[in-house]
Amino acid sequence: MHKNKEAVMANIAVLGYGTVGSGVVEVINTNHESINKRAGKDINVKYVLDLRDFEGDPVQKILVHDFDIILNDPEVDIIVEVMGGVEPAYTFSKKALLAGKSVCTSNKELVAKHGAELLAIAKEKKLNYLFEASVGGGIPIIRPLNSSLTADEITEITGILNGTTNYILTEMAQKGYAFDDVLKKAQDKGYAERNPEADVEGYDACRKIAILTSLVAGAQVDYEDIHTEGITKITDVDMKYAKELNASIKLLGRSTKVNDTFYSMVAPFIIGEKHPLIGVNGVFNGIFVHGNVLDDVMFYGRGAGKLPTASAVVSDVVDAVKHMGTNIMTIWEERKTKLGVFEECENKFFVRMKDDDTLDEFVIKETFGDVLYVRAKGVDGELAFVTKPIKEGDFAEKIKKFDQVCNVIRVDL
Ligand code: HSE
Repeated sequence: MHKNKEAVMANIAVLGYGTVGSGVVEVINTNHESINKRAGKDINVKYVLDLRDFEGDPVQKILVHDFDIILNDPEVDIIVEVMGGVEPAYTFSKKALLAGKSVCTSNKELVAKHGAELLAIAKEKKLNYLFEASVGGGIPIIRPLNSSLTADEITEITGILNGTTNYILTEMAQKGYAFDDVLKKAQDKGYAERNPEADVEGYDACRKIAILTSLVAGAQVDYEDIHTEGITKITDVDMKYAKELNASIKLLGRSTKVNDTFYSMVAPFIIGEKHPLIGVNGVFNGIFVHGNVLDDVMFYGRGAGKLPTASAVVSDVVDAVKHMGTNIMTIWEERKTKLGVFEECENKFFVRMKDDDTLDEFVIKETFGDVLYVRAKGVDGELAFVTKPIKEGDFAEKIKKFDQVCNVIRVDL
């Protein structure tokens, strides 16, 4: 009797009862019947690990404070790691895989840093290390890259990969709110990281584009090697110019493949009305992919938040249950992918300069060639223009000539 029960049940343990962890428990409870049907087994949350207590919450009955209880319980088949941060999540995940338990995670820091190693252990042990929720919140993108898009050579991935910054930029553009007020709202809604610097400085988007590029390349892309700029320098004046251009300012993570080399970066861009990501607003994320035979494809949905992220985690749990005893092949080797030199990337630049007595349009032409001048209603005392495509390195040299610069934003009109 006991044996039969085991065969129809998959026990999971959730590490971390924060926003995502509590979402995972809620999703499993809410959609219990349909999830079990799809998994082919009853999914039972046997433990939740957290340092804190949750008196009054039914989770208290299955709450443990010691990871070893979970590790040493042979009935636990799958670990859901939703703690965030590299440690102790890395140690726990590695120990779990070595002990024969599959791991499902939303932890982008850990996946970006040690994904290749953890995938290799999972493969060796005929287990799975699954991380759908680590990029794009509730949007399926990892599984499509691993299965649906395997016929293609992917030559571009451009994504709005951070819900918090997209929410901030959208509220600033549409309602004229100040940066700090909107950040506070994003934190209250549970979108932002514990340390919002990771969102607003672009580090979170950087880890996500590193994960996507590693998957496309089949080998490690270190996020430290990706040029990353955040949104903290974007102002209401920039928003006015973007409006004048029928454009929006978006934080983009981008990787393009030229011959065998990937060029990756994270930075705010002014994107025009024809850009496929222009309609991606608020907490939504969008990921545009170009394949050499498929052409263009786009993925869109909620990029952050408790239930959308938990939905992606639980879909991984279902996959792990369906594939018990088999490894779902994911090619991401530990060797490093060759990244192109950032200074060689070409971009167009929107430049705002203080129009004082010393600024000479002739010098602008002499330096950047023909540029497109832009005026914005209600903005005086400035000259603003868009350059032709210039290599990053050359632009950085040329702009040094001017001490009137107010702001520079890359442009994809
Ligand atoms: N802070 C992240 C975001 C959460 O805003 O997108 C989802 O990874």
